[in-house]
Amino acid sequence: MSQKLRALQADITSLNVDAIVNAANSSLLGGGGVDGAIHRAAGPELLQECRLLGGCKTGDAKLTKGHLLPAKLIIHTVGPVWRGGQSGEPDLLASCYRRSLEIAAANGVRTIAFPSISTGIFGYPIELAAETAIRTAQEGVERHPALDEIIFCCFSAADLRVYTSLLEALPATSSLKLAN
Ligand code: AR6
Repeated sequence: MSQKLRALQADITSLNVDAIVNAANSSLLGGGGVDGAIHRAAGPELLQECRLLGGCKTGDAKLTKGHLLPAKLIIHTVGPVWRGGQSGEPDLLASCYRRSLEIAAANGVRTIAFPSISTGIFGYPIELAAETAIRTAQEGVERHPALDEIIFCCFSAADLRVYTSLLEALPATSSLKLAN
């Protein structure tokens, strides 16, 4: 298993990391699920900052400050709505992770936590989403060696089991290569 990837069960707003990722919608003006939780915990100045961003396309990501959160930064990404899997959902979801990690690396982030993007209100099946999340995160730590830790922050115990079993099945690749 790559030592830079791990999963845990938590409320992502409580995590003391450099950046957390928000599973937002294209307006970036808040919503339910983890988006609602992040806006409530970060306070009203987050919404003011988001209003200046002009929205965000599906598969892309934008950066704000963390405001009242322990995390210094928030990377807002917009996952795809699940429409059965034939509408480009896997590529769009991978793009969310890839763009978030690019923005993180460009801003000096070393530790970052992702929620399970698109798997709540947007209906993406958790097993498929977790595979894409982990594969894209592995690519990200190889491309951006300054990233120390990518946390998959699961809200439920069932989601954590999915991520943990996929992570345990990973060959020990990138981190070993980096250590040599
Ligand atoms: N911490 C960590 N994970 C959470 C939290 C939390 N506090 N709250 C929920 N989750 P969702 P989506 C998990 O629905 O599917 C919003 O209205 C949740 O259990 O938040 O990408 C946006 O504005 C699930 O595993 O995001 C968009 O309109 C995961 O976060 C839409 O929902 C993602 O669920 C985005 O839908």
